[in-house]
Amino acid sequence: MESVQAIKQRFEIIGNDPVLNRAVEKAIQVAPTDISVLVTGESGVGKESIPKIIHSLSHRKHGKYIAVNCGAIPEGTIDSELFGHEKGAFTGATSTRNGYFEVADGGTIFLDEVGELPLTTQVRLLRVLENGEFIKVGSSNVQKTNVRIVAATNLNMFDAIKKEKFREDLYYRLSTVEINLPPLRDRKDDIHLLFRKFAADFAIKYKMPTIRLEDDAVELLQKYQWGGNIRQLRNVAEQISVLEQERSINGAKIKSYLPNIGSNLPAVIAEKKKESDFSNEREILYKVLFDMKSDLNDLKKLTMKLMESGNLKDVKDEHEGLIQKIYGENEDEQDIEDQEEEERSILQIPQNSSQEKEDKYYFAEEIEEEETLSLQDKELELIKKSLERHSGKRKSAAEELGISERTLYRKIKQYDL
Ligand SMILES: Nc1ncnc2c1ncn2[C@@H]1O[C@H](COP(=O)(O)OP(=O)(O)OP(=O)(O)O)[C@@H](O)[C@H]1O
Ligand SMILES: [Mg+2]
Repeated sequence: MESVQAIKQRFEIIGNDPVLNRAVEKAIQVAPTDISVLVTGESGVGKESIPKIIHSLSHRKHGKYIAVNCGAIPEGTIDSELFGHEKGAFTGATSTRNGYFEVADGGTIFLDEVGELPLTTQVRLLRVLENGEFIKVGSSNVQKTNVRIVAATNLNMFDAIKKEKFREDLYYRLSTVEINLPPLRDRKDDIHLLFRKFAADFAIKYKMPTIRLEDDAVELLQKYQWGGNIRQLRNVAEQISVLEQERSINGAKIKSYLPNIGSNLPAVIAEKKKESDFSNEREILYKVLFDMKSDLNDLKKLTMKLMESGNLKDVKDEHEGLIQKIYGENEDEQDIEDQEEEERSILQIPQNSSQEKEDKYYFAEEIEEEETLSLQDKELELIKKSLERHSGKRKSAAEELGISERTLYRKIKQYDL
């Protein structure tokens, strides 16, 4: 049996945390059996490598490995994706299609985000798990398959069961063995290790010197809550690698990359979910769209009223509630004044509009100009620094900047360097 260390190396799993090691060990132990495994843990903890380990150490390793993201498939098509359909089963089913359970016969299916499966699909899944039987959509023929299932979820399955979103019998059938991955905040000793690995990877990817953390920065990372776990740490390492010119990073620098620092929220994402009980990202997007639509309708209404009456004060008094809904409320007196000033300029409909319009466009151009200028400054500085680092050698500087030598030559001329 391969050792935990060897497997971690093979699957590029970084860290020496005892709970992580135990999770990998469990995966190795359970791999040669056909036992169903449920991988649990918060978002971004690294659940996706566990089913890969299990498949590649099992007798099914030469069979197919299919990873299905249950949360990403629309409810209307998921049965057909998983179990296939007969020709004519529904509009658009122009030919018979084999589902993943048929295709992966003799192999492994990884059902990621299994908690998102619709209840009707859960019934079909239970049947496959119990006796290997399934029926294509639109068929009455029972088919057999021999598939090992590994599932994963970042939901609290007991909650989902309580809310009748997940079948209890299916949960117990899926989680014969449960492998739980620890959140990053409980793996403090691994944080710097992981950061160094990501920093080294991004240095190669972006052809830049590796960023290095000073002691106070490491301390901050270890105290941080990491709602998005390793995925978030990787993103932070990537952002800093690309955006910071100074390659030695101190605590003050790193703070700006850590949202909600100082807050005791256990996990940003989990907290948000609790508040609104969104079951997936799609719902969040729908909510944002609906809110935007509603704001837009309110704005349309307000604009119409303004155009009709042409009197700002009357409209403001009459539609105070609406204005507050759109622009939000301010507790601070000064803020209210500032806001009123701002509203005056936003809501003003000029009597003699041409001059005013010109002024407004002029204002917009001014902002654009400023941004362009500061971007140019940044570019100029980057080029200067890179040339300095490479003692004026254009080829090396261009390589470091990720642009062609010709482009660099043009920029040198443009900035008169
Ligand atoms: N121990 C680790 N060492 C190195 N990289 C890791 C480790 N764990 C996770 N990662 C990286 O972190 C990222 C997130 O991991 P993964 O996609 O497996 O998360 P997840 O647990 O499936 O999250 P979600 O529930 O949101 O799908 C990936 O880029 C993965 O390569
Ligand atoms: Mg995942």
